[in-house]
Amino acid sequence: KMDAFITNLMSKMTLDEKIGQLNLEAVGFDVTGPIVSKNVNENIQKGNVGGVFNTYTPDAVRKLQEIAVNHSRLKIPLFFGYDVIHGHKTIFPIPLGLASSWDLDMIQKSAQIAASEASADGLNWVFSPMVDIARDPRWGRIAEGNGEDTWLGSQIAARMVKGYQGNNLYDTDHVMACVKHFALYGAAESGRDYNTVDMSERRMYQDYLPPYKAAIDAGAGSIMSSFNEINGVPATANKWLMTDLLRKQWGFKGFVATDYTAMMELIPHGMGKDGYAVGKKAIDAGIDMDMVSDIFLDNLKKLVNDGKVPVSEIDIACRRILEAKYKMGLFTDPYRYCNVQRAATTIMKQDYIDAARDAAKKSIVLLKNNNSVLPLKQGGSIALVGPLADDHRDMIGPWSGAGDWHKSVSVLDGIKQLAGSNVQINYAKGANITDSEWLLKRLGKDELSFDKRSPQEMIDEAVAAAKKSDVIVAVVGEAATMSGEAASRSDIGIFPNQEDLLKALKATGKPLVIVLMNGRPLTLNWENDNADAMLEAWFGGTEAGSAIADVLFGAYNPSAKITATFPQNVGQIPLYYSHKNTGRPYAGDFVDRYKSRYLDVSNDPLYPFGFGLSYTTFTYSPIKLNTTSIKPGQPLQVSVTVSNTGKYDGTEIVQLYTRQMYGSVTRPVEELKNFKKVFLKAGESQVVNFTITSDDLKFYNIDMKYTYEPGDFKVFVGTNSRDVNSADFKLTN
Ligand code: IFM
Repeated sequence: KMDAFITNLMSKMTLDEKIGQLNLEAVGFDVTGPIVSKNVNENIQKGNVGGVFNTYTPDAVRKLQEIAVNHSRLKIPLFFGYDVIHGHKTIFPIPLGLASSWDLDMIQKSAQIAASEASADGLNWVFSPMVDIARDPRWGRIAEGNGEDTWLGSQIAARMVKGYQGNNLYDTDHVMACVKHFALYGAAESGRDYNTVDMSERRMYQDYLPPYKAAIDAGAGSIMSSFNEINGVPATANKWLMTDLLRKQWGFKGFVATDYTAMMELIPHGMGKDGYAVGKKAIDAGIDMDMVSDIFLDNLKKLVNDGKVPVSEIDIACRRILEAKYKMGLFTDPYRYCNVQRAATTIMKQDYIDAARDAAKKSIVLLKNNNSVLPLKQGGSIALVGPLADDHRDMIGPWSGAGDWHKSVSVLDGIKQLAGSNVQINYAKGANITDSEWLLKRLGKDELSFDKRSPQEMIDEAVAAAKKSDVIVAVVGEAATMSGEAASRSDIGIFPNQEDLLKALKATGKPLVIVLMNGRPLTLNWENDNADAMLEAWFGGTEAGSAIADVLFGAYNPSAKITATFPQNVGQIPLYYSHKNTGRPYAGDFVDRYKSRYLDVSNDPLYPFGFGLSYTTFTYSPIKLNTTSIKPGQPLQVSVTVSNTGKYDGTEIVQLYTRQMYGSVTRPVEELKNFKKVFLKAGESQVVNFTITSDDLKFYNIDMKYTYEPGDFKVFVGTNSRDVNSADFKLTN
């Protein structure tokens, strides 16, 4: 039925109208790229637009849809896209935070809620999930992804797609996902945004491509091409990537839109001198939709008329876009997402706010807790200080475009609500996020709620608050604009002025609890040495302040674990747990001279992948295996007894890794293969079982075949990638 409908429609379309469907324009409130589209209404009327983005609300969407449906010749409805990255109006923690929960159901639910709100607000297409593997915390966009691990990243990618799209795109509670940024965008050289990617085929297939594939296998309707080049050819002009891999190998049936002006950027990339040249490369590569460049619009017809591009390429792209519109039911009812009443009863409803709080508390990682400083008692007095302690705007994080920060709960609000009647709160800002003129020029003082008092005056006020309090809670970190797109940093420490504040607070001798808000792993050596307790709260979204209060006072016992390694210093980057052994592995002994190591720092991270503490303690028994040798297809049963040996009930994320000792190619020292999240009451023990088969041991071998190789293996189970027990087994033929 769909094919016949589209064939019939296309038979009536002129070449111009087909090309119009391949055009995506930016309108409205938000600007998420270097230029904005012009004459959008007129273009819609002429049939020159397939979809628009950066506008929402049922009324705004209806107005534009009306132009398409009432005033264009063929009345083809538009898509309405938006960057719904971690919630639409109800903002959830940034994706790197959500990933730290390792809670796949909750992550899927966050996407479902985002879809419900976005679709109630007129949208039918979200530019998410972002599934780029990132191993360089200098890159600001590490905040938007799931961290460094391929296996976990793939699980999350699939769940996000299911959350957004549900089982059926036709259902108005769901929206079409757009998997981005295809491909390898997270591997930009030096962590500098938009930068070059040059990567071996093996690493690409093994480590970086699987999350995109997982999202596609989960049914993602669209894909966004990335800004970067891959081994000399930008993704947006890369035929191998967009056709050979994506279509022929992976069988992707949806459509590909470029990132913002990525087609135009093929010119400075050096792929051609004008739109005519690069437009041809993009359509030949397999790009279906041009975001904002207007290159397809301005050049495709001439390319066809000049015999440079076959009309069949345009037909294919146009059909893919019309198919997506058909599947969404836009031809049946173009206004199906424009229901003002539904928006009013759906957006930011209490259930969604509660889910955001739940997600935020499950995403907070306890990095340190000396002498059980946390949880705090509900009594006495707290000095609540720091530039982010009474912040509403930054805490919702980057890419929270439609999120209303006025509705977010600050840490000060959260503590007042939870414990305000029992606890005396002495608040002082203590410092601006940064005093650096360089940064302030780039980010804008107003954006940072800049306080004009002198740094010393602010510190003195905070120290006075600390002196009259029992404990200090210092909320420090980054502004939201310091991570996300175009927000790379070469130094990822706490800013010097905030560190001055922390040092002055430390000098008071009062217990110091640091709460971090940031979008990337930071270098936190001083903080780790000097804080009594430290929480990584990320940018926690609308309910961040309530969730932080829940954790500070023990209403929730933290359970999250980081999914990106925290280095000791920037020189160690890229630092990730699944590295190779090398021929000269360093055992950590400083006389071991000719080894793979640094002279000035150990190879260890500050916090390893999978790390996160709890208010209780968990112990692990040695690993039990049902056998030490399996054949292909046979299960290896791995079990450990995990015991809660502390005073609090708590949840532990039990992690399972493997290592193949020898192979036709070198293998990582550890690879995550599974995990279980278990809740244990204080004093309780539980046997946690895993099954491994040869399928879990597959990799790209010397012939680039995805298969297993018989041999010697180790299995590791533990509380993070470093602190594990191990056992040996064999895979035989
Ligand atoms: O979706 C985004 C992308 O992640 C970065 N460039 C702009 C796009 C649209 O806003």
